[in-house]
Amino acid sequence: MDLNMTRLLPFALLVLLIACSSTSGSDPEHPIAADKSTGQSVFNMNCSLCHGRDGKLGLNGAKDLTASTLSKAEMLAIVRSGKGAMMPYKDVLTAKEIDAVVEHVRTLGKPK
Ligand code: HEC
Repeated sequence: MDLNMTRLLPFALLVLLIACSSTSGSDPEHPIAADKSTGQSVFNMNCSLCHGRDGKLGLNGAKDLTASTLSKAEMLAIVRSGKGAMMPYKDVLTAKEIDAVVEHVRTLGKPK
């Protein structure tokens, strides 16, 4: 068992969190852990500005995400490369974060 690695990982995550929160004002109380919460926190930090936390805000012509009929692949492409007033996120988020945030978007239209 590599003890060093298991001790270093939470520390590395903490550093990452601090680095993120200083630039984007993220919520340090919601650590990046499981994919589900990653998708939600990535969305709240990067997307809710235009789309709203529930996906319905539609600021500056942003689409109501709860009404989107796009496939997952089409959403991934838009988030990676941007569309219209929406910026590309491929240099901002990791592929994993983009996947997680699209998964989150796809839950928005579904009844809870
Ligand atoms: C600057 C405002 C803005 C931000 C921030 C933003 N979007 Fe958008 N988004 C838009 C606009 C505007 C459109 C409509 C683009 C078009 O069709 O011309 C759009 C469209 C979309 C679509 C396509 C919906 C459809 O049915 O056509 C998806 C999916 C989407 N955004 C997801 C996201 C995600 C995920 C994030 C965060 C990573 C995000 N957006 C951040 C403005 C924004």
